[in-house]
Formats: sequence, C-alpha cells, structure tokens
Amino acid sequence: MRVSRIGILLAAGLMVSGAASTKPLIIAHRGASGYLPEHTLEGYARAIEMGADFIEPDLVSTKDGVLIARHENEMSETTDVAAKFPDRKTKKVIDGRTVDGWFSEDFTLAEIKTLRAKERLSFRDQANNGKFQVPTFAEVLALVNAAKRPVGVYPETKHPTYFAGLGLALEAPLLEDLRSAKLDGATSRVFIQSFEVSNLKALKTRTNLPLVQLLGEATERPFDQEAAGGPLTYGDMATSKGMIEIATYAAGIGPYKAYIIGVDREGNAAAPTDFIARAHAAGLKVHPYTFRSEERYLAKAFKADPIAEYCAFFAAGVDGLFSDFADTALKARDKSCPMAPRK
Ligand code: G3P
Ligand code: CA
Repeated sequence: MRVSRIGILLAAGLMVSGAASTKPLIIAHRGASGYLPEHTLEGYARAIEMGADFIEPDLVSTKDGVLIARHENEMSETTDVAAKFPDRKTKKVIDGRTVDGWFSEDFTLAEIKTLRAKERLSFRDQANNGKFQVPTFAEVLALVNAAKRPVGVYPETKHPTYFAGLGLALEAPLLEDLRSAKLDGATSRVFIQSFEVSNLKALKTRTNLPLVQLLGEATERPFDQEAAGGPLTYGDMATSKGMIEIATYAAGIGPYKAYIIGVDREGNAAAPTDFIARAHAAGLKVHPYTFRSEERYLAKAFKADPIAEYCAFFAAGVDGLFSDFADTALKARDKSCPMAPRK
C-alpha cells in the first residue's frame, strides 16, 4: 500500500503536524568524520552519541555484491588496502575518469574485512588509523536499530551507473538491506540520496522511502545523464523548472553549499540566493553539504567560526545539513543561533 507524501515526510522527521515545524536536521556526514576515520561503525556510533539526527553512509559494492560504507570504490585513501594487497592495484575508468588504485568491486567481503580504516585528511587525527574495520550497510543499520534513541540513516548510492554496468547494481541490495533491518516502513527514518537521476527515478517506483537529489557543480552533469549523451547539468536542475521536475520523484534536494550562500573571489560569503525559496516552492526540502569546522573550509566572512556559518545557513532556511562535526552543528542549532520559527 502506498503511503501519502505527507506520511512519508512525517515518518522521516521532516515535519510535524500543526503550525510548528521541526528543527533543521543534523546529518552526520560519513559518521563523526571530523574526529574518527570516516565510514566506520566507531565513527557512526560517536555521531549517535553526539546526538546527530541521522548518520550518513555512502555505499559501494564488493565483488560478491555486498554493500559496504565507503565514499568511493577506490579504497586506498581510507584503508590500508595498498599495504595488505600490493599486487591488486589496477587502473579503471570511473564515471569518465581514469583512476589508479584498489577497488571494492575486485575484493570479496571477506577480503575487505581484513582491511583497517585510516583517516583521509592529513590535518585530522591519525591516532585511530589501523583500528577499525570497513562496515557493511547491514552492520550500519544494525547500529541504528540498537541506538537508545531514534536515529535516522541517510544512505547514498555511489557510482550507481558504474556498478550497474558491472552487474553489481546498488539499488536491489540497498532496498533488501533496509527491508531486512525493518527500516523500509512508513515510520522509518530513512532518506536515500544520489548524485545521479535515473537510479532515483527507478527507486521511486520501488520504494515509498523519501529520495533526495544531490547537486554537484552547476556545470557538471550527473554521470547517468552524461553516459546517455544527455545535456542535463546540475545548473539546469537548480532552476525552478529543474526543481519542479526533481519534485516528481524526490522529496528533497541536497545542494553544494554555494548554491545557497555563495563565496566571492576574496572568500567573502555573499547574501543568500533564492535557491531555498524556489526549492520550497517546488515542494522540496533542502539539505546542503558539507559543513566542516576547520578554518580552511570557512569563508572569510565567518571569521574562522563554524557557528557563524551554521547560523547563516539556518537563517537562510535550510531544512537540514550534512556536517563532519555533528556536535558543533547541534550546538549551533540548539544553543547558539537565533532560530526563527520555521514553516
Ligand atoms: O551526500 C551529501 C554529501 O555527502 C555529498 O558529498 O562527496 O561527501 O558524498 P560527498
Ligand atoms: Ca555522501
């Protein structure tokens, strides 16, 4: 039985009945990735302890068709695969780009379970390198189900056209893992996101869970569109016409931050654009990415203060945001930023 769109949004915590609305959602981007190696159960658990509303696993496939949490299928930047399997290095074309490395689709889950995660960014804490395994999506869902309070999960399909071409399509195991974890119902706190279009449109016919269309740089094309020879760019999708089309299959839109508050050549933040107003007019919730506390990621106008950035985006009217530092985002939302009533 299909549930109503309002029912889906209520279930996902996007809105509450009556005049008041929920606070913007804090989505723990790749776990507690400001503190612990990304996409590990330990990182997700830390984000849950912090109070994040959702945790965000990016998903790729193993050789044996198991979904694991990794930001990309090339695993050497975030694991010790190069040291453990030196002979397995190869070259592939991923979404039109030639990439050298070690790829999830060439390894069984048993092999991947011998790997240990490491911190991607040199300026973040390296003390936990070598300690944590690469989790399966099923293990991430078990963690969510074991949490002492309701926590949502916000999976992203990575390289869906590429994996479909290998006979390892992500969508069927994604839905099956959610079904097995009993997280595919009308009250489940789940969003499914993708930078591609066609897999979201296909998912729309297979699940009532809310979908989120991610937007990359305005001049870029979703890879499924590019592969099909289509002209559609993310810039086209960010027009009012594009948003109306997105709303035919998605409940939300996940733009890069600059679609909402641009940054000029001197690094100063500009006034908010009309992006959120147009998305809301199309019926789409807006969840921008990615908020990071280090000064190198902050526009000059925020004076090295991540709270100032969060306050600016909350004031602009976002419905949620992806942060590497969920604790700081929660502090901003719940203690620091003036929060106007939201409709
Ligand atoms: O999914 C939202 C955000 O995570 C998109 O960026 O590259 O970190 O997956 P990425
Ligand atoms: Ca992501």
